[in-house]
Amino acid sequence: MLLKEYLTDNCENEQLAIIINNLADAAILISKTIKTINKISQSEVNKKSINVDGDLQKPLDIKSDEIIIDYLKKSPVAGYASEEQEGFIDFKNNNEFIVFADPLDGSSNIDVNVSIGTIFSIMPKNNLLLDKAFTQSGAKQKSSGFFVYGPQTTFFLTLGKGTLLFALDENIEMFVIINDEVSIPKSTSEFAINAAYKRYWNSPTAKYIQDCQDGEEGSRKKNFGMRWVGSLVADASRILIRGGVFLYPSDARTKYKNGRLRLTYEANPIAFLIEQAGGKAINGIDDILTVPVKNIHQRSPLVFGSSDEVIIYRKHCENL
Ligand code: AHG
Ligand code: MN
Ligand code: MN
Repeated sequence: MLLKEYLTDNCENEQLAIIINNLADAAILISKTIKTINKISQSEVNKKSINVDGDLQKPLDIKSDEIIIDYLKKSPVAGYASEEQEGFIDFKNNNEFIVFADPLDGSSNIDVNVSIGTIFSIMPKNNLLLDKAFTQSGAKQKSSGFFVYGPQTTFFLTLGKGTLLFALDENIEMFVIINDEVSIPKSTSEFAINAAYKRYWNSPTAKYIQDCQDGEEGSRKKNFGMRWVGSLVADASRILIRGGVFLYPSDARTKYKNGRLRLTYEANPIAFLIEQAGGKAINGIDDILTVPVKNIHQRSPLVFGSSDEVIIYRKHCENL
C-alpha cells in the first residue's frame, strides 16, 4: 500500500493528510539532494554558520530547511518551527496545524556518508495564538514521523494509531508500507549512549551503564552490546525495528545540563512514535510527552526504547 492510500484510508483529517504527503515529497527531494551533494558548489560547502543553539549549521541543514519551508508553504499549515530557525515562521493564515522539524538530524555524519534524516511533529493550534500553540506539550501531537536517508530511504509515521514503517520505492518515487504494526521488543540486550562522556554522567546513568557492562557476572546476569551512530534517527530506527535502549541524559557539561536533544523537534516526535510502538520515552522520571514546553529550542534528557530497560533506568533515577 502507498503512503497516499494509507492516509486516505486512515487519516480522518484531510488537511493533516495533505501536510504529511507534502513532507514526504520534501523528504524525497532532500534525499535526492544529499545524493548529489558533490554538485553543491564548493563555496556553499565551505559556508559555515551557527544556529540559535550555537551549533554549526552545514549547508545541507539550511538547504533541507528551505525545502521543507517550500513544501509547507503549499500545505494547510499556520506556522513552522525548526532547529534552523530562531523563532517560528508565521504563514499568516487561519490554518489549524503547526509543524516542528529537525530538517536534518545527525549533521555531523553528512561528510562521512552515515545515515542522517528529517524529523517532524504536527499539532493543532487548539484555538491558541501561534506563540502559545508552539509551547504545547508533546501529548498534543496529532502526528509525528522521521525519514532516514540511509542505504534505503525509510519513513516511520504515527497518526496515534500505532507506528508504521514505509520505504521509498525509487522507481515510482513513492513511499510504500513495509510494516503496518511496528512493535518494539519489551526487553533488549543492546544500549546506545555516547560512552566518551562517561565522566559527565549523573549517577543513575553511571549505575545503569555499569550494570550493563558487568554482563552476566554482574547484577543484570546477562551480557549487553552497544551501538551509537550519532544520528538520533538512525539509532531510533534500529530500536523501533529490533529493540534497544537509547540514552542521552543530562550531564555535567553546562551546555548539556538539560541534555543535548531538543524537546519539540527531536524528543517529542520520537517519543510519540516509540510509545505508539509499545516502547517508553522519558526524561529520567517523567514521560517525555508530559514535559512542559517553555520554548522551541528547549533541551531535554532523553531515554527511550524497550520498556523493560527504560523502567529499570527510571528506578535508578527515582532512587537518586
Ligand atoms: P543534529 O545534527 O540535528 O544537531 O542532531 C544531532 C544529535 C542527534 O542526532 C544525535 O543523537 C546526537 O546529536 C549525537 O550527539 P553526540 O555528537 O554528542 O554524540
Ligand atoms: Mn537532530
Ligand atoms: Mn539537525
